[in-house]
Amino acid sequence: MTSAIFGSSVAAGRSIRGFRDPHGEVIVDDGRVLRILTADGTAEWDAFRASPAYSRLEDRIIPTRVLPRRDWPQGVAVPTNGVVLEHQRVPVFTYASEWPFSTLKRAALLHLELVKALTVENLTLKDARPSNVQPVAGGFRLTDTSSIVRRPPGSIWLGLGQFCQTMLFPLLLDSLIGLPFQPWLRGRTEGFDVHLTRRLLGWKALQPRLFSVVFLQSVLGRLTDRMGMAGVTPPNAIGIDTRKLLALFDRLAALVDGLRPNSCPTAWRDYEGMLPYSEAETASKREAVAALWGGLPRQRVLVDIGANAGTYTTIAARYADVVVGIDEDASVVDQLARAAPENVLALVADVADPPPAQGWRSRERQSLLDRVSADAAMALAVIHHLCFRGGVPLVEVVDFLTSIAPISLIEFIDPEDESVRHLAAQYGVVRPDYTRQTFLDAVARRGRILGERKVSATRHMFLIGKNC
Ligand SMILES: C[S@@+](CC[C@H](N)C(=O)[O-])C[C@H]1O[C@@H](n2cnc3c(N)ncnc32)[C@H](O)[C@@H]1O
Repeated sequence: MTSAIFGSSVAAGRSIRGFRDPHGEVIVDDGRVLRILTADGTAEWDAFRASPAYSRLEDRIIPTRVLPRRDWPQGVAVPTNGVVLEHQRVPVFTYASEWPFSTLKRAALLHLELVKALTVENLTLKDARPSNVQPVAGGFRLTDTSSIVRRPPGSIWLGLGQFCQTMLFPLLLDSLIGLPFQPWLRGRTEGFDVHLTRRLLGWKALQPRLFSVVFLQSVLGRLTDRMGMAGVTPPNAIGIDTRKLLALFDRLAALVDGLRPNSCPTAWRDYEGMLPYSEAETASKREAVAALWGGLPRQRVLVDIGANAGTYTTIAARYADVVVGIDEDASVVDQLARAAPENVLALVADVADPPPAQGWRSRERQSLLDRVSADAAMALAVIHHLCFRGGVPLVEVVDFLTSIAPISLIEFIDPEDESVRHLAAQYGVVRPDYTRQTFLDAVARRGRILGERKVSATRHMFLIGKNC
């Protein structure tokens, strides 16, 4: 059976990941990520393969192979003279609106490294969207191989505007005026345009190190807008000297490298230094997390909700191939991203209002919850936040947490605990439904308790297996 998505004919079990690129489209076929290239797309891919840049950048690009014709997926029309590439699958595909500062910074620096190495070989990146590179175990990799194309001689970097709007400007705004970029990039995936950036930066845009980037972008942007309105096609080859272009990449890299996160201090930033447990209780919680996950077969993907700076995320990472640590507080997620082992993916998201499906007909980007396909979930000391601050009924929270994966480790904190009483008073909320019995009844309706550990008199951890 086939169904029409984006105007293509797509078999059941298959979905389209990208369709805007005239050089080809990406489909996910039974879990395999395939890129169907047109004849033009194939010519660009062949030019890259034949260039010395290919071997030099191999460890920066997602492992990719050309599929022999006999393995081409059935029912997919491959254009004449086109080919099919198969990419290694990224365990969880994520977007810049879900990344902390240091992740976006690494993505920006990788783009500059790639475009510099490509430019030397008369190639370039035609696109520069942050999500074209993805954090995978072993470092960041370029996944959008179709963005590598031959460079028209004398042209400026085709992706420069996009690079500025979606990477450089968000980093600058966070670093220089403390504006968190995640909510903005979630609302407007095209990023910050240069005029808005100049306004928001105010006099700071006049700093010599920014002047050429922000000012030049602004002038170039206005010029191409005016030419567009006058029906004139802007030239993409303006005779720029390659050495000057390479020097621009170096200046941009130095600028990005010097930026530090500067979002407003949050209540959670120092949470791990002032835990509401005694040292012995913290030690017993650590030991319990290790023992409960260690007693199970290794997990493929484990998601940790309310990960904070990752004390327990890091412990769980010993027992899973990939751990996705999610927290709504961008500054603690940044700490996690910088300190965690390589198999931890640190994401900024409010699970009470998670990133939705977006893009063309809301089908281009799946919602975060649909993208994370987890075998195991962990939610320690977070339920009371969802109930008292988020206003979500306890039964609904249990329903959500136990629905994420077949197995979950959940810490429940009794209403008598000081931190729960504090939260209830802070938000002026009375929740008669918030009791350990309601929690246990809700769990019993959804699964069974496989293990239990006492952290303190008012805190308990439960390992829960979901009903099939
Ligand atoms: C008490 S800390 C627990 C941290 C860690 N899990 C532990 O057991 O020590 C609660 C964490 O949950 C996060 N959090 C609260 N509500 C959240 C939400 N709606 N979405 C994502 N994270 C949330 C907070 O930012 C905070 O880092």
